Amino acid sequence: MSGPDDPGIVSCTVQAFLPEATRIDYPNVVMGRPGRRLEGKVAVVTGGGSGIGKATAELFAAEGAKVVVADVSEAAGVQVAGSIVETGGEAVAIAADVSDSRELDAACDAAVESFGGLNVMFNNAGIFPADDGGVLDTPEATWDRVMEINLKGVWLGCRAAIPRMEASGGGAIVNVASFVALVGAATAQVAYTASKGGVLALTREVAVEYARRRIRVNAICPGPIETPLLAELLANPARRERRLVHIPMGRFGRGEEIARAVLFLASDESSFMTGSALVVDGGITAAYVTPE
Ligand SMILES: NC(=O)c1ccc[n+]([C@@H]2O[C@H](COP(=O)([O-])OP(=O)(O)OC[C@H]3O[C@@H](n4cnc5c(N)ncnc54)[C@H](O)[C@@H]3O)[C@@H](O)[C@H]2O)c1
Repeated sequence: MSGPDDPGIVSCTVQAFLPEATRIDYPNVVMGRPGRRLEGKVAVVTGGGSGIGKATAELFAAEGAKVVVADVSEAAGVQVAGSIVETGGEAVAIAADVSDSRELDAACDAAVESFGGLNVMFNNAGIFPADDGGVLDTPEATWDRVMEINLKGVWLGCRAAIPRMEASGGGAIVNVASFVALVGAATAQVAYTASKGGVLALTREVAVEYARRRIRVNAICPGPIETPLLAELLANPARRERRLVHIPMGRFGRGEEIARAVLFLASDESSFMTGSALVVDGGITAAYVTPE
């Protein structure tokens, strides 16, 4: 049962808020109630053992999803899945390196075998090596490794998820890009930036290819978020301040603040969105001069 009589569903008619003359045949807007926004869905979260992935896996589970926590660090994945189960949610952990297609296939198979299908794929795993620098000094091996994980890993994640999502009646893919896919930085990190630009282009292409096949594909562009990924960089006061001055809100973001935006893209609340890049960056990409 769904609709206004179902206590789990909040529904309202858009037309009720429009002047009579402008009313057209809008469908009702049906929104899940907080705490049940992913009820009945099965999600895979790559890089779910830390930072943004951990916060998202926990929020997905709190909103009713059954979650596969896939991480190259088995211990981190087990810890996150375990804490979800301890707090009454449903989750399993699987060790998976996103640069290996067989391991991503196994992670998506775990969703089907453990929970009966796959509806949400969060391609989140990524790296930010310390020796990724300017165009002249970044080692080729670093460039290759960053592309393998940050860009190829997203393609492989889409490739593993799509057939299983189609067999489950459709789904939503969310890919992690970054604000650096939209603006350049003099504090260069060429491989990372190029990989994230590639994620945006890939997201658009897959979104359009599958737009009529019940699969939505969107990207998220986080600003700088205080996670282990940036811990070393942000521990240095000068490097921290060099970045902070460019953030209009005057602070770094938190993993949970990205997780909430990912939840929106993963849930049916974003049902008419595909191929989009949702920017969650404290205002960085909107700014020229920031407040004193
Ligand atoms: N933290 C930020 O400021 C920021 C900003 C924009 C985008 N991002 C992106 O968000 C994503 C998550 O970053 P985070 O800040 O949470 O980082 P994090 O380092 O806290 O977590 C990343 C997780 O990914 C896992 N991982 C690394 N390589 C993997 C691989 N090959 N296969 C599977 N798992 C792997 C790690 O074990 C870790 O658990 C990354 O794609 C990152 O580029 C982060």
